[in-house]
Amino acid sequence: MSLFYKKFIRPLFFNLDAESAHELVCRNLARLEKSCLAKRLICNTLSSGNSPVDLFGLSFPNHLGLAAGLDKDGRFPGISSALGFGHIEVGTVTPKPQPGNDKPRLFRYPKDEALINRMGFNNDGAKKLCERLKATYPKGKRSSPLGVNIGKGKETPIDEASSDYNSAFDSVAEQADYITVNVSSPNTPELRKLQDKDHLESLLKAICTRRNYWCKINQSKALPLLLKLSPDESFSSIERIIGAARDLGFDGVIATNTSIGRDNLSDPGTHEAGGLSGKPIEKRSIEVIRFISNLTNSRFPIIGAGGIHDTDSAIRKLDAGASLLQIYTSFIYEGPLFPSTLAKSLSHRKSFF
Ligand SMILES: Cc1cc2nc3c(=O)[nH]c(=O)nc-3n(C[C@H](O)[C@H](O)[C@H](O)COP(=O)(O)O)c2cc1C
Repeated sequence: MSLFYKKFIRPLFFNLDAESAHELVCRNLARLEKSCLAKRLICNTLSSGNSPVDLFGLSFPNHLGLAAGLDKDGRFPGISSALGFGHIEVGTVTPKPQPGNDKPRLFRYPKDEALINRMGFNNDGAKKLCERLKATYPKGKRSSPLGVNIGKGKETPIDEASSDYNSAFDSVAEQADYITVNVSSPNTPELRKLQDKDHLESLLKAICTRRNYWCKINQSKALPLLLKLSPDESFSSIERIIGAARDLGFDGVIATNTSIGRDNLSDPGTHEAGGLSGKPIEKRSIEVIRFISNLTNSRFPIIGAGGIHDTDSAIRKLDAGASLLQIYTSFIYEGPLFPSTLAKSLSHRKSFF
C-alpha cells in the first residue's frame, strides 16, 4: 500500500505546489475528523502494535507522534490518532491569529526526501484552538495524548515575548496534555534569540511559574512542559539551555526543530530560505539527542524528531537516548499508512525512563 501511495497518489499531490497539496490533504483529514465511523474504520483497519510508553505521567500507546506544524490548528487530531500516531502535537499557536509569511513558503526536495518551510506560524490563534479541541477532541476522552506547541506572535518584540507565551499558555492549558515551548523555529523574527542567555532564563521561569500556578488553582496533578530545541545550537549552548530548562522545572525536551543549515542536500547551493527538515537533518538531530542524553545521564526525557524515515532511523533515535519520537516530513513522503507501520515495527522496543 505504501508502494501504491508512492507510485500513484504521491505523484498527483506532487503535481500541485507543496502548500496547495498540504491544504488539500488537511481539508480532507478535517472532513474525516467529523465522522466517528471513519475514525473507527481506520483505527480498526490499521494496527500500530501495542507498546505503551509511560512518560511525564502520561500514557502513550506507542513511541511515535505527529510533530508540530502539520495540524497547527487541531483540525484532525482524532484522525491522526486513528492513523497510528501515539501522540499528536498541534500548533505552533500564537495568542492572536496570524497569516504567516507570504507564499510560496513550503518547498519539496524529493531527491533528498526533504522539505524547506518558512510558514511563519500561520494559525487561527490559541483561543480558537482550545475551543475546537473542546468540541472535537476533548481532554479526558482521547486515545492518544495531545500536546500544544506555543510561540510568540510575529509582531511581538522579543522583550515582550514572555507575555505572549503566558497568554497562549492560559488559552490552551485546559485542553493540553502537555505544552511545548517553541523557541527554535527559524521563521519568526528573533524567535531563536530566545534561546540566548539574556532571554532564556527569564522566559522559562515565567512559563514555569505560570504552569505551577495553573496546576495549583486547577488542582491538577501535572501539566508537563517541554522545550523544543534547534539543531543549529552549539553543544555548549545546548548544555546551557538544557541546564536552565531542568533547573527551572521543565519536564523534557523535543530535539529537534528544523535547521537553517543546508548540509547533506544533494545540491546545497540553490535552496529557498527557511527551515530544512527530513533526511538531511537526521544526523545532526541524533548528535543533539545523544549529547543531551549523555549530559543528563538519561535523566531528562527526550522526544526525538528530525529525519526519521524508516524503522532503522527511528531505532537510531531511540538508541541515542530518545524515549518518544515524532515525524512530519516522512509522513508527506511515505503516506498515510506510514505511522501505523512504523509504530508497529517499534513495538518490540521497551522505553525505560
Ligand atoms: C511545513 C512545516 C511546518 C512546521 N511547523 C512547525 C511549527 O509550527 N512548530 C514547530 O515546533 N515545529 C514545526 N515544524 C518542525 C517539525 O515539527 C519537526 O520538528 C521538524 O520538521 C523535524 O522533523 P521531520 O524531519 O520529521 O520533519 C514544521 C515542519 C515543517 C516541515
